[in-house]
Amino acid sequence: MAVNFDISGKIAVLTGAGGIICGAMSREFAKKGAKVALLDLFPEKAQAIADEIVRQGGDAIAIEADVLNRESLETAREVVIKRYGRVDILVNGAGGNKKEATTGPSNSFFTLDQEAFKWVFDLNVTGAVLTTQVFGELMAEQGHGNVINIASMASYLPLTNTLAYSGAKSAVANFTQWMATHFNQNYSRDIRVNAIAPGFLLTEQNRYLLQQEDGSPTLRGEKVLAKTPMGRYGEPEEMAGAVIWLCSDAASFVNGAVIPIDGGFSAYWGV
Ligand SMILES: NC(=O)c1ccc[n+]([C@@H]2O[C@H](COP(=O)([O-])OP(=O)(O)OC[C@H]3O[C@@H](n4cnc5c(N)ncnc54)[C@H](O)[C@@H]3O)[C@@H](O)[C@H]2O)c1
Repeated sequence: MAVNFDISGKIAVLTGAGGIICGAMSREFAKKGAKVALLDLFPEKAQAIADEIVRQGGDAIAIEADVLNRESLETAREVVIKRYGRVDILVNGAGGNKKEATTGPSNSFFTLDQEAFKWVFDLNVTGAVLTTQVFGELMAEQGHGNVINIASMASYLPLTNTLAYSGAKSAVANFTQWMATHFNQNYSRDIRVNAIAPGFLLTEQNRYLLQQEDGSPTLRGEKVLAKTPMGRYGEPEEMAGAVIWLCSDAASFVNGAVIPIDGGFSAYWGV
């Protein structure tokens, strides 16, 4: 059996595709010949990336979709099917954190805003589940497919302050394992569900935690870099390689796995 990393011709749907990680992933998918549907709550962000992909000779469309709204996801599914006829890859990329759901000197655990807490769980967990219901149903009918979730270092061990986000990302890793088993036992052994767990990237989402306004690291930023054996933050493009591998036949026996892409952060206690 020849090892095959090819994903050309595959139809990939990515949520949160207007964002840093899934925007980069969409570009890299397209460079490898996949046809990409970029879903985002803010379609103009996804559209800009889709336009760039098309300008460079790729095949992409941007679609407005809210991962917390089933109707919106079903409409997006119709658009994808009309254009491409099937879905081979789903990347549940929409996710994130909120300052109000993060403890700190001015935000005590005891009075942490419940709405913000729920918002983080909804976006990261409910959003991935709902999107997998809508697009996974197609995969069950097709009898094949690949689902990728985005976990986090907080999936393995909680990170200080980020109470809601840590719990939610832990649930994303658990959902990855559950869903892999559920698809195989009930629908098809040719559907795989895996996750990547990105290490630390410097993005708008977490800049306030890692960097001071003058660009120097916060105490937390210093700790992150000291505990990352490679001594640096990751780049969004560095998340794409593992996902391309996971979605290719080269990973045909990789299922229910959560792959750290973290410069060694999760391999090192810091001692
Ligand atoms: N950046 C990091 O350091 C890091 C580390 C670990 C995990 N992650 C995870 O990776 C994923 C992508 O993160 P990112 O850094 O690219 O974030 P980002 O904020 O750049 O992108 C997230 C995208 O999701 C979209 N979105 C938000 N709510 C939505 C909704 N209801 N429906 C559809 N789209 C919605 C946003 O418009 C945005 O374009 C998230 O799950 C995040 O938690 C990020």
